[in-house]
Amino acid sequence: MISPRRKVYLVGAGPGDPELITLKAKRLLSQADVILYDHLAAHDLLDLAPPAAERIYVGKKRANHSVSQDEICALLVELGRRGVNVVRLKGGDPYLFGRGGEEAEALQLAGIPFEVVPGVTSPLGIAAYTGVPLTHRDHTSVVTFVTGHDVDRIDWTKVGAAETLVVFMGLSHLTQIAARIIEEGRDPNTPAMAVRWGTRPDQEVLVGTLSTLPALVHEQGMKPPATIVIGEVVQLRQRLSWFEKLPLFGQKIIVTRARQQAHSCGWRLTTSSSSPPSMESNVSSNASTKVPGTCAAFAVGSAPSARPPATPSNGSTSRWISPRRST
Ligand SMILES: C[S@@+](CC[C@H](N)C(=O)[O-])C[C@H]1O[C@@H](n2cnc3c(N)ncnc32)[C@H](O)[C@@H]1O
Repeated sequence: MISPRRKVYLVGAGPGDPELITLKAKRLLSQADVILYDHLAAHDLLDLAPPAAERIYVGKKRANHSVSQDEICALLVELGRRGVNVVRLKGGDPYLFGRGGEEAEALQLAGIPFEVVPGVTSPLGIAAYTGVPLTHRDHTSVVTFVTGHDVDRIDWTKVGAAETLVVFMGLSHLTQIAARIIEEGRDPNTPAMAVRWGTRPDQEVLVGTLSTLPALVHEQGMKPPATIVIGEVVQLRQRLSWFEKLPLFGQKIIVTRARQQAHSCGWRLTTSSSSPPSMESNVSSNASTKVPGTCAAFAVGSAPSARPPATPSNGSTSRWISPRRST
């Protein structure tokens, strides 16, 4: 068999639900010698790689950069020079607020062959899984994606007027952002929502208005990673939400099996019953309240945001089971 030329692949891991990766990403993971993965990439995806593949966590959380971007770029170049298949697994899409451009530039400058595989970016996953289409003929024909990371760098006069405005990394500055948008003339009653860990079983959603959402986020103690969606389309959630209504949403399931077995066992569990008799749903469909932040289906425990980065272990460990299969 002709062995494919070794490369560095910058691969979009999608927004959270591990099934939202592309077939190409899945194939590349199955052929990987080394994977560099971050905080936002679903750690379940690591199981798609051969057991012998090296898994390197290079996660970055706000104000807690375990590995700097320069170090990540240098590591990619070093691994690329080794002539092995490297998958750089990045949350969402590598080229949308993902610093994939910098990584590609570093590889290009070093003469390392690379490819980029797009992923489902988090706002698109969030739109689908919260019941908020980002465009709708009756409400909006303009969508703007903006980073709220550095509020003063953005021209809110232009951006704030976007019919649907999606703010990445804006949770910590939400009060300031909302005030700036209102100052620029946007109606304070414009619907707005904050979504944490969208598409995952522990998805949290807070819905309010431009003027009320900052206080709601503060009261409920919502933490990053979260995305803010502002615009009339947010109202559609009242009619179009489906994810949180699935029978296993918000539930914890203990699967006392080895990691690999837990996966298939979990799938069987969720596909065999549309509503497990021993579990009461604790889902709230009230759009103005916080959807319970527990994970839908984790073996041995902890909520995903609290768990450490996954390691290639054969012992019992935390993992999730998508509730989607239970319908
Ligand atoms: C560095 S950016 C990465 C964006 C990524 N490249 C993408 O395409 O989605 C990180 C920010 O993306 C947003 N984000 C990523 N995944 C998310 C999720 N599952 N739920 C909510 N927000 C998410 C949050 O605003 C987070 O702070």
